[in-house]
Amino acid sequence: MTAVASAPLLAVENLRAWYGHSHILQGLSLEVRAGEIVTLVGRNGAGKTTTLKSIMGLVPKREGRVTFAGVDILDRPPHERFHQGLAYVPEERRIVPGLTVEENLRLGILAARGDRATKGGRASRHDEARRIEAIAETFPRLKQRLKQEAITMSGGEQQMLAIARALMAAPVMVLLDEPSEGIMPILVEEMFEQFVAMKRAGTTILLVEQNVELALDISDRVYIVDGGAVVYHAPAAELRGDPEIQARYCAV
Ligand SMILES: Nc1ncnc2c1ncn2[C@@H]1O[C@H](COP(=O)(O)OP(=O)(O)O)[C@@H](O)[C@H]1O
Ligand SMILES: [Mg+2]
Repeated sequence: MTAVASAPLLAVENLRAWYGHSHILQGLSLEVRAGEIVTLVGRNGAGKTTTLKSIMGLVPKREGRVTFAGVDILDRPPHERFHQGLAYVPEERRIVPGLTVEENLRLGILAARGDRATKGGRASRHDEARRIEAIAETFPRLKQRLKQEAITMSGGEQQMLAIARALMAAPVMVLLDEPSEGIMPILVEEMFEQFVAMKRAGTTILLVEQNVELALDISDRVYIVDGGAVVYHAPAAELRGDPEIQARYCAV
């Protein structure tokens, strides 16, 4: 790193996390700079989901340092992190099946009101229609289905809705946990193009992904997690050229 490099948007330093007596994260460190797509890969049980949950404050016991936009957030509750501009899309998409696509999107902006509305109105009523319009441009499948009940859509489309809903709050950074899991390949490719569009629009992305090939194509940098710690990190292009490392750490 050079002396002039700007401070990272998200810095995780020596993070430790526990579920009850199980010590899961063993001193994990990573950073994400503004505007990057950074991907975490690693086999099942490596600690990737626990890492995202810890960054979001959803793991009960954690130690270390997590800094977001220069603020130490380790001891902040999840909703404060959200209001600071961190959004999290968990593996299990929590869309509301009986509501329409548009109603689900509106829920995303409702969640963003409160704090933010009083701190400069980032999510004013006027913004709402504009955001739905902008998001519909990025997610054409949702645009065609705005009035349709979410439950009528395929798994991949529901996952896109979960991601689009997170974007309604105009987050600075989104944490995405295995968004392509169980989704038809054609939709996965479309989804990855959407990540690139999100990046272009200024959203920083921390992605957990089993689909290493595709992830490497769109990522700036990659971290491999194993045994609750980072065992390798490099620019995506470097890992792309190293099938041996991929085979060692990324096999499911
Ligand atoms: N709620 C939980 N309670 C206890 N152990 C858990 C819980 N969630 C995950 N674990 C354990 O933590 C380890 C890391 O899990 P996880 O972060 O989900 O891995 P990954 O997302 O890389 O597959 C695994 O050994 C898993 O069994
Ligand atoms: Mg996981």
